[in-house]
Amino acid sequence: MTFRYSDGSTPVGLDVGTSRIVAAWPSESDYIYRSELNSFVTLPGSKFTEGVLRKENVPHTVRANEILVQGNESERFADLLGAESRRPMARGFLNPDEPESLSMMQELLRSLLGTAKHARQKLFFSVPAAPAGAADTATFHEASLRQMLTELGYDAKSVSEGLAVVYSELEGSNYTGIGISVGGGLCNVCMSYLAVPVISFSVPKAGDYIDASAASVTNEMATRMRLVKENTFVFGGVQQEKAHQVISVYYDDLINSLVAAMKEVFTKSKSLPRLGRPIPMVLSGGSTMPPGFRDRFEQAVRASEFPVPVSEIRLAGDPLTATAKGALIAALSEM
Ligand SMILES: Nc1ncnc2c1ncn2[C@@H]1O[C@H](COP(=O)(O)OP(=O)(O)OP(=O)(O)O)[C@@H](O)[C@H]1O
Ligand SMILES: [Mg+2]
Repeated sequence: MTFRYSDGSTPVGLDVGTSRIVAAWPSESDYIYRSELNSFVTLPGSKFTEGVLRKENVPHTVRANEILVQGNESERFADLLGAESRRPMARGFLNPDEPESLSMMQELLRSLLGTAKHARQKLFFSVPAAPAGAADTATFHEASLRQMLTELGYDAKSVSEGLAVVYSELEGSNYTGIGISVGGGLCNVCMSYLAVPVISFSVPKAGDYIDASAASVTNEMATRMRLVKENTFVFGGVQQEKAHQVISVYYDDLINSLVAAMKEVFTKSKSLPRLGRPIPMVLSGGSTMPPGFRDRFEQAVRASEFPVPVSEIRLAGDPLTATAKGALIAALSEM
């Protein structure tokens, strides 16, 4: 793909994830990224707190008698207050059980992106592939985000998350291979042949599932389990600590479910291209971060009589920004 700036404008790539929203812009030689946690907490209303938050540039929204702190700072406040943070999205889509879902998403997008810098500023945002039987949820999610981004002045289009991973990581094989994102709310898979998405699907089990399941077994809060998982969990051997042991059980469950789903979908698919040679598989998303994840995933694939010959299984250059980068590449390719 060649990138041209025909009119000097700046395109934007946006990864709207259950856990984090990541934006990417092109720079002189590379890309620039910014991210916000896709969560918020409610604080009691106070002019004093309002003033301090404003001074510290903490994104927040003032209501009649409460203050909603959204984005990166929400986690720290939730931890301090001993509360779970609230989430605008769940399992990949706008959360129907969260009344503030749409308003908080709009505020998060506004604080991360600002309004468009010029007319028709192009923006591609990631959407998950619809899980089986949930096409309506996907339509509502995509249309709502497009509307919010249009209100901010962007010329917004969607790209599926799996395909964004392919754009970001599989240039070396001419965009032929399998792109996988193992995120917070779900896993997205896209098999692509020469940049054409042949099979895309999602599995509604990812990092949040590990946190929630581990929390219910250990009687801890999900946020706590998440911190343990992100900061100290490593794959392999007998786990010394109870929390690590529990996390490893659910991590294995997640990996096995994902590999089983890929095997089933690829086996049943009539459109599986006869590729003639093995194709690469690339892993991205925050849940691929613990040391040993790739090896454990490869073991599961090798043990599964996988229906597609795989040449290599590797991690994305930066698993946390691959989707945003891929969305930006999609936007750049339309310039
Ligand atoms: N260092 C780490 N070790 C383990 N897990 C991590 C680490 N960093 C992030 N995660 C986990 O990755 C998940 C978030 O990943 P990511 O940001 O890719 O998801 P997302 O794009 O927001 O969600 P989704 O794509 O599912 O909608 C969370 O479950 C988080 O706990
Ligand atoms: Mg994601």
